[in-house]
Amino acid sequence: MNDLMTQPFAPVTADIQAQLPAFSSAEREHMKTRIKQFLKRENAVLVAHYYTHEDLQEIAEDTGGKVADSLEMARFGHAHPATTLIVAGAKFMGETAKILSPEKRVLMPTLEATCSLDLSCPAEQFNHFCDAHPEHVSVVYANTSAAVKARADWVVTSSIAVKLISHLSDQNQPILWAPDRHLGRYLERVTGADMLLWQGDCVVHNEFRAKDLRAFKEQHPEAAVLVHPESPESVIELADVVGSTSQLIEACQRLPNASFIVATDNRIFYKMKQMAPTKIFYEAPTAGEGATCRSCAHCPWMAMNDLHSLMHTLQTGGNEIHVDEDIRIAANRSTKRMLDFAASLKSSPLA
Ligand code: 13P
Repeated sequence: MNDLMTQPFAPVTADIQAQLPAFSSAEREHMKTRIKQFLKRENAVLVAHYYTHEDLQEIAEDTGGKVADSLEMARFGHAHPATTLIVAGAKFMGETAKILSPEKRVLMPTLEATCSLDLSCPAEQFNHFCDAHPEHVSVVYANTSAAVKARADWVVTSSIAVKLISHLSDQNQPILWAPDRHLGRYLERVTGADMLLWQGDCVVHNEFRAKDLRAFKEQHPEAAVLVHPESPESVIELADVVGSTSQLIEACQRLPNASFIVATDNRIFYKMKQMAPTKIFYEAPTAGEGATCRSCAHCPWMAMNDLHSLMHTLQTGGNEIHVDEDIRIAANRSTKRMLDFAASLKSSPLA
């Protein structure tokens, strides 16, 4: 195992959100109107993740764009006829869009929005990992660089990870998994697959605490617990539902509970409250403000996607995603494979 696989991720030192200019509501509305005009003029569509600021989510939905989980963002951007995709999220999401749609211009509000999972898995070390286990099929989480996707046999997102790993396990394939150790452990446990796990984690989900969650549950016994599978195993064990962002949003509408304790990035509350307006949502406990908590249930990189950065990108055409063509072609194979697998599930009578 290499150093990067075991080193703790460097703490996020600055509160990025606190550095952003504060806008009056009139300024915000003015910016939203201008952004909508720019999107139209540029024949661009905005594809945003649920963890981005609610202003961006609102603009995406008002202009025929999409707010979605990683899988649906990839699928939507690829299928949409717009010539420019504006991808609001972590950088790997913009790269995935470019991998799938090289003919489109892909812009992002910021190119600085990385991901601790992506950082934990440099391509060179990942190649060594694969070389050391040639009999294993390699499956990587979408939260990886284009170069890692290029080496992998499969790319997968959390919404179809259980189905894909089960499918491979049914064929008795030993699996090499990277980079999220918690998601890997969860997949291993629910599918019984034979898996070798890379030791990365997400700076947000890794901070949810089982002990505090247990105590919080006792105070709110009526609440169902919704957990993203990037969380530690001890937190997942307390969940009523484990799933991707879209699966957790679906669960809060479907379940009869009046309240929910949610272990994922707290920006998801915007969509949850929209879809289930009468229900109450609590943030699952992390190490807490002022303790050793580094992300406090909100990804500092996702927070870089705001009105200001979006406007700047649209005005300048800056922050374009480029992927080396050889890498793109190889990464397209494993990424497209995921979309084809997802499509086969949808068309299956058992889906
Ligand atoms: P989803 O695919 O569930 O939206 O997850 C994306 C992600 O990066 C979670 O941290």
